[in-house]
Amino acid sequence: MDNVAHTLENLHHESRSFRPHAAFAAHANATSYEYKKAGVDRLQYWREAALRLAWRTPFTEILDWSDAPVSRWFHDGTLNACDNAVDRHVREGRGDRVAFHFVGEPGDTETLTYRDIHERVQKAANGLLSLGVGTGDRVAIYLPQIPEAVVAMLACARIGAIHSVVFGGFSAESLRQRIDDAEAKLVITADGGNRRGQHLALKPLVDEALASHGEGTAHPEPCASVEHVLVVRRTGQETAWTEGRDVWWHDAVDPQPAEHEPVWVEAEHPLFILYTSGTTGTPKGLWHSTGGYLTGAAHTHRIVFDLKEDDVYWCTADVGWITGHSYIVYGPMINGATQVLYEGTPNTPHEGRWWEIVEQFKVTILYTAPTAIRTFMKWGEAIPNQFDLSSLRLLGSVGEPINPEAWMWYRRVIGGDRCPIVDTWWQTETGAIMISPLPGVTSTKPGSAMTPTPGISVEVVDDAGRPVANGEGGYLVITEPWPSMLRGIWGNRHRYVSTYWNHFDGMYFAGDGAKKDVDGDLWLLGRVDDVMNVSGHRLTTTEIEHSLVAHPWVAEAAVVGASDEVTGQAVVAFVIVRGDAHGVPEDGEEVAAALREHVRRQIGSLAKPRTILVVSEVPKTRSGKIMRRLLRDVAEDRPTGDVTTLADPTVMDAIRTGLEAGAGD
Ligand code: PRX
Repeated sequence: MDNVAHTLENLHHESRSFRPHAAFAAHANATSYEYKKAGVDRLQYWREAALRLAWRTPFTEILDWSDAPVSRWFHDGTLNACDNAVDRHVREGRGDRVAFHFVGEPGDTETLTYRDIHERVQKAANGLLSLGVGTGDRVAIYLPQIPEAVVAMLACARIGAIHSVVFGGFSAESLRQRIDDAEAKLVITADGGNRRGQHLALKPLVDEALASHGEGTAHPEPCASVEHVLVVRRTGQETAWTEGRDVWWHDAVDPQPAEHEPVWVEAEHPLFILYTSGTTGTPKGLWHSTGGYLTGAAHTHRIVFDLKEDDVYWCTADVGWITGHSYIVYGPMINGATQVLYEGTPNTPHEGRWWEIVEQFKVTILYTAPTAIRTFMKWGEAIPNQFDLSSLRLLGSVGEPINPEAWMWYRRVIGGDRCPIVDTWWQTETGAIMISPLPGVTSTKPGSAMTPTPGISVEVVDDAGRPVANGEGGYLVITEPWPSMLRGIWGNRHRYVSTYWNHFDGMYFAGDGAKKDVDGDLWLLGRVDDVMNVSGHRLTTTEIEHSLVAHPWVAEAAVVGASDEVTGQAVVAFVIVRGDAHGVPEDGEEVAAALREHVRRQIGSLAKPRTILVVSEVPKTRSGKIMRRLLRDVAEDRPTGDVTTLADPTVMDAIRTGLEAGAGD
């Protein structure tokens, strides 16, 4: 082990780099001056960013860190999130600007201006009040990706109620857990949504969530906190009804007066709770403030996405995730963006649906996830090539490390070699982008999120919390408080401190591995729980996956460490072959042999997978992250563990059946 100099091995070397185009740089919202300003006086930099918001009462103090690790930003100021995202635009003459081009999966569309949203959100606020919801109450939102989801969130914010959006793909049990933890008073849902050409019922899941689950279960009693269920009619499907509790949106909201004075809240007033699965136990209810959170979301949206008056911005995330909160609802709307909001899946009714939408609405900025990009690679570039994507001028990525080859594919096939790519690293906890290139300023490297955004202080440290040198790997930490940082785990300060602040003294531990390359640029290496130990070397799954995806046959790869008598752990890779790859051998063994040799050549024999299995899918969470734990079960020939958080629970059976069939060849 004495040859292990660094905390994590640094295997991958990337020499490609792309300088910003001069034409882009000439008009970019951000210049290198941002870094300079933030470097000279970080707090002053954030003060200026906060002053772009509309404050009802100005703040005098920037940061109060006396109760660390809970921060308070701009705390003596008051404001309202909905006023910032909606009213302000109407007030300042931008009411006719399109806020959303909504596209339903079945093909229905709706254009909503800021004035339309203003009217709807005031009615909805009055509707919530009529149902007894007040400032500080919690409201669970369980809706498809439709305009009412945005309106519901903003209406809560308008009256100072705290929204807890639960992604529509979650089960009744997950919904119940989240409702109980936050003691939500109201649930806003729909009869159903459109998913893959079908009506997917939602309201029955709410009914199930709120009911008693029977003696001996986790929920022997019906849910005690919820007084009403507010139901949007989306699909028109039959829905069971509990008189007195259930109310239609069109009855409770539509007839309300479109006049409502926002409730002015203190900057530290909770804006929302968003649950993320912890590694153990119950989901964590991360909560965010109003003033600091909005400052972070709006500011990063402006400088990272370079938003201009005539841009059409499309973030493909669901509003049920933090990306939807920060980069559909709050950041872009505060900046007055015109957005696309799409309800459905990328392949309904055909695999070119997204590109058709880009062509139709002349989308200029696209923000999506590596899992989507790899899926499009698998389907083949002939599909996007059928559409006119020339309106695009900036591409973003978030959610996972993006494999360098997926980055190159994104740049070439979707971005026509002309669009800068911003690979943005952040978390539900951070509220806003922490590490990303600034378009027009930063030269980018495929696969690297590059440098902290201005005003953010990040380090990569070893086990002892000491910064590692360039060229080495370690743990990613954030060393100074930032405005949009989470304020805690709802109702559990102890868990907040022990999850994020007990690993390294005075530093926020993100749970991710990272390395600094020779230039000091940052490469994210995935969750540290995914680290393998092969013959005493700590390898991250990410770098080997990057190498596999760099092979022309491979669209997607998931690597895990499986116990091995000789090496401690051995590298096992699951690969999905590209739909448009040429000359791929029929025999899985031949594919495996070629790919093992490829990894050996690219990064060395240490990283060479012991086993490579060709599969048609890999298991993913509902937010698109690969679930390596389940693949480890396959690699170690164990029964599959808990699959309840999988987007598609049948994937594991398909993988096992496919592998058994392959083995019998
Ligand atoms: O592991 C990192 C990965 O996603 C985690 C945060 O997940 P979540 O809270 O669901 O938020 C996702 C959207 C912000 C991180 O700890 N992650 C996110 N973005 C990147 C990333 N890993 C590498 N590169 C990224 N750009």
